[in-house]
Amino acid sequence: MGSGFFGLILVLGLFLKPLSCQQQQQEQLQNPNSDGYFISEFYKGMGLTSSLSQIYNFSLPVCSWQGVFCDAKKEYVVELLASGLGLSGSIPETTIGKLTRLQTLDLSNNKITALPADLWSLGSLKSLNLSSNQISGSLPNNIGNFGSLESLDISSNDLSGEIPETTGSLVSLKFLKLGRNRFEQSIPSGILNCQSLVSIDLSSNRLTGSLPDGFGSAFPNLKTLNLAGNEIRGRDSDFLELKSVTTLNISGNLFHGSVMGVFKEVLEVVDLSRNQFQGHLSQVHFNTSYRWPHLVYLDLSENELSGEISHALNLAQNLKHLNLACNRFARQEFPKIVMLLDLEYLNLSRTSLTGQVPADILQLSYLHTLDLSENHLVGHIPSLRVKNLQVLDVSLNNLTGEIPVMILDKIPYMERFNFSYNNLTFCATSKIAPENLRTAFVGSLNSCPIAANPVLFKRQAPGHKGLKLALALALSMVCVLAGLLFLAFGCRRKNRLWAVKQNSYKEEQNISGPFSFQTDSTTWVADVKQANSVPVVIFEKPLLNITFADLLSATSNFDRGTLLAEGKFGPVYRGFLPGGIHVAVKVLVHGSTLTDQEAARELEYLGRIKHPNLVPLTGYCLAGDQRLAIYDYMENGNLQNLLHDLPLGVQTTEDWSTDTWEEDDNNGIQNVGSEGLPTSWRFRHKIALGTARALAFLHHGCFPSIIHRDVKASSVYLDYNLEPRLSDFGLAKIFGHCLDEEIVRGSPGYMPPELTKPEVESPTAKSDVYCFGIVLFELITGKKPIEDDYPEEKEATLVGWVRELVRKNKASRAIDPKIRDSGPEDQMVEALKIGYLCTADLPSKRPSMQQIVGLLKDIDPTASQ
Ligand SMILES: *[C@@H]1O[C@H](CO)[C@@H](O)[C@H](O)[C@H]1NC(C)=O
Ligand SMILES: *[C@@H]1O[C@H](CO)[C@@H](O)[C@H](O)[C@H]1NC(C)=O
Ligand SMILES: *[C@@H]1O[C@H](CO)[C@@H](O)[C@H](O)[C@H]1NC(C)=O
Ligand SMILES: *[C@@H]1O[C@H](CO)[C@@H](O)[C@H](O)[C@H]1NC(C)=O
Ligand SMILES: *[C@@H]1O[C@H](CO)[C@@H](O)[C@H](O)[C@H]1NC(C)=O
Ligand SMILES: *[C@@H]1O[C@H](CO)[C@@H](O)[C@H](O)[C@H]1NC(C)=O
Ligand SMILES: *[C@@H]1O[C@H](CO)[C@@H](O)[C@H](O)[C@H]1NC(C)=O
Ligand SMILES: *[C@@H]1O[C@H](CO)[C@@H](O)[C@H](O)[C@H]1NC(C)=O
Repeated sequence: MGSGFFGLILVLGLFLKPLSCQQQQQEQLQNPNSDGYFISEFYKGMGLTSSLSQIYNFSLPVCSWQGVFCDAKKEYVVELLASGLGLSGSIPETTIGKLTRLQTLDLSNNKITALPADLWSLGSLKSLNLSSNQISGSLPNNIGNFGSLESLDISSNDLSGEIPETTGSLVSLKFLKLGRNRFEQSIPSGILNCQSLVSIDLSSNRLTGSLPDGFGSAFPNLKTLNLAGNEIRGRDSDFLELKSVTTLNISGNLFHGSVMGVFKEVLEVVDLSRNQFQGHLSQVHFNTSYRWPHLVYLDLSENELSGEISHALNLAQNLKHLNLACNRFARQEFPKIVMLLDLEYLNLSRTSLTGQVPADILQLSYLHTLDLSENHLVGHIPSLRVKNLQVLDVSLNNLTGEIPVMILDKIPYMERFNFSYNNLTFCATSKIAPENLRTAFVGSLNSCPIAANPVLFKRQAPGHKGLKLALALALSMVCVLAGLLFLAFGCRRKNRLWAVKQNSYKEEQNISGPFSFQTDSTTWVADVKQANSVPVVIFEKPLLNITFADLLSATSNFDRGTLLAEGKFGPVYRGFLPGGIHVAVKVLVHGSTLTDQEAARELEYLGRIKHPNLVPLTGYCLAGDQRLAIYDYMENGNLQNLLHDLPLGVQTTEDWSTDTWEEDDNNGIQNVGSEGLPTSWRFRHKIALGTARALAFLHHGCFPSIIHRDVKASSVYLDYNLEPRLSDFGLAKIFGHCLDEEIVRGSPGYMPPELTKPEVESPTAKSDVYCFGIVLFELITGKKPIEDDYPEEKEATLVGWVRELVRKNKASRAIDPKIRDSGPEDQMVEALKIGYLCTADLPSKRPSMQQIVGLLKDIDPTASQ
């Protein structure tokens, strides 16, 4: 409607204007030999006047017209730029073909259908741009008249037939663009005469045959060669002599031979996709000592490459785009390409990858597209930098576990994603369209934890009281319902387990108790009669039928050799349960007032609490009076060990992976070897933020909210992906009300002032905040909470020391020298100030964990994803 109206005004203008200006116009335009006359005739013939007469005021002298440039004497037009003016039809004779001094003609982006014969007489033309029109027919031999032509662009037209041999007369030509037409047959050998060529684009035509002999050596200055999308038959050797080319695109042709021959030091962009190249990628490096120095873009997809993907690719430090999809590579582990920190596009679809996706893929922070589809990958989807992620395809693998929440969160903003045909679970939020759920999650299991959906809480804006209340109400109702369901379901399941067991234990050899186990500091007794009649509940694998007897064998009868730690709740052991489940078994040795049923319900509840920064409770076992909590094993140890027990930079606590005890090491245990990572500020910040998120979730995301009561460095674990995960949440509750005073008060060094008073108050969320503050101090200073060396300070604690420095505005002195140079100092000082707020004496003065998450995110937004 709007444009119609506008058009009407223009048309009216067209009829009114010429009347008023007729006199002046005639003067200029009636001289039939002037360039002004030819151009106005041209515009009239091409229908320009209908829409742009307002801009093209033909009453003015020709040299002042838009897009017209004259020579110094203002006599002749030397440049005519008429791109995108909607010019249509065939160009009449005796118009622009008569602009004898014309050097530059740009008629691109119009609807021109044919050229006039006199066009070819424009002997002084240097630049001709006719691209994006509708010119059909063949290109006449007359093109050879343009002896001075430097730039010829006729791409995106409808031209057919052969490229004329006379193209070879264009000896000054630098830019030749004939792409996206329908040119046929082979490239004429005449082209070899155009030795000044810098750029050749013949892409998307129907060219066949092979390259003319000597093609490679004919163009000493050639930088760009694009022959993509033809049917040219060629060999690697065709490119041997092309020494100056930086951009080579021969995608979608019939080139064959060894991929090796193509690579030259100067190459920046290489697209050899959809050809028939063969050979091993590693030869490129080893035979030619090619070092991929300038390479930014490499596409070798859909060829016949074999062997393994070469580690030498890591030398291509500038690589942004890497596509090796659909070749015939041998089965291989995920290639080591994390050195390619600039990578934005990575496509390894159908490259026979096995094993796990390495966690250090997290370091590729610019990743925009990741395609790993159609491989044999196993294990979890690791965390990814989702900030720039637009396309993620992991379909048709054997991946297991949860799709990381971070990625699910990003989905509504992504262009394309596909998780189909794996064995993944996920917790869908309402934001994923049902259509996508159907097509992109085929075969995945929707498994929302019932306690709460973390996504809801992360997005929740502060200050929406009504919303919060409604959410709280809804969630508590869900929790009550869920509780009832668990009760019903849990009992039934247990009955079934028992029934199954009763059948089998007659055949099995009976291991009878009570069993007694020793550690350095305690002895604990499992008062069970028949070990194989006491079930172990594994939440996600209810049919596994594991019993206490399996726990005994998994831990070599709770042997000291499998002891990971002695926490204050009791010893923690490590083992592999049947089915390859790698676990840490925590024995809660202190007595509890809860009945078996209450404890089971509590543990079932804890098992439903899931958050990417919490160590998930995998299952439990009630062995007589002992409650055994079973956790996912955390591959990379805990923060206490990382910060204090080992020199920094060494990965984990104990070297678990070389434990003699271990038989199968392929299944998950990998100490992620990104050296130096623990000593970077980014990494420490990530741990702080993850831990804060976990606590914010327990405090504000669970109803009733959970107070951790034992926040300390050794409660913060690092999982396979080096993501921080808080453990031991909710355990204090299992003990009911008869807690040891020590447990109420917290661990040594982590004692909020309100809990040291004689009249013991019970811990609150703000006591967790205090302890978090200490952990934050540890992360930044690298010092222990107590009994460490605090320079220039009589205070015997970390808190006293740092708070004093912050007060005196000298906080930067507290920074761990090992991380000082790894990030902006002001960010670290800012974080110390947050710790200062957390460790306020009065609980009411401390911020909430939700506020702390916000503060930490503000410090370093780049790392907050
Ligand atoms: C065209 O130029 C003439 C002479 O300068 C001027 O009088 C007239 O207003 C111009 N017309 C338009 C549409 O700008
Ligand atoms: C020709 O014009 C098109 C569209 O205006 C432009 O994109 C292209 O770069 C031009 N060709 C040359 C060789 O300058
Ligand atoms: C190579 O040419 C093809 C076809 O024109 C195109 O799709 C592809 O993006 C080009 N590659 C590069 C690196 O520009
Ligand atoms: C490249 O190296 C491989 C293995 O070392 C060898 O078999 C092959 O002949 C070499 N090719 C060339 C062209 O040197
Ligand atoms: C990966 O490469 C394959 C083969 O060229 C292609 O079909 C697929 O679309 C690419 N994936 C992405 C996400 O670009
Ligand atoms: C996935 O694992 C199953 C069972 O181990 C195997 O049969 C199947 O071939 C695997 N699929 C892929 C794509 O590797
Ligand atoms: C994945 O699930 C399919 C179908 O449930 C099963 O056949 C396959 O063995 C599973 N693969 C793995 C690796 O768990
Ligand atoms: C995901 O991949 C599967 C297997 O290739 C395919 O069938 C499905 O259509 C894809 N879904 C989307 C949304 O691309």
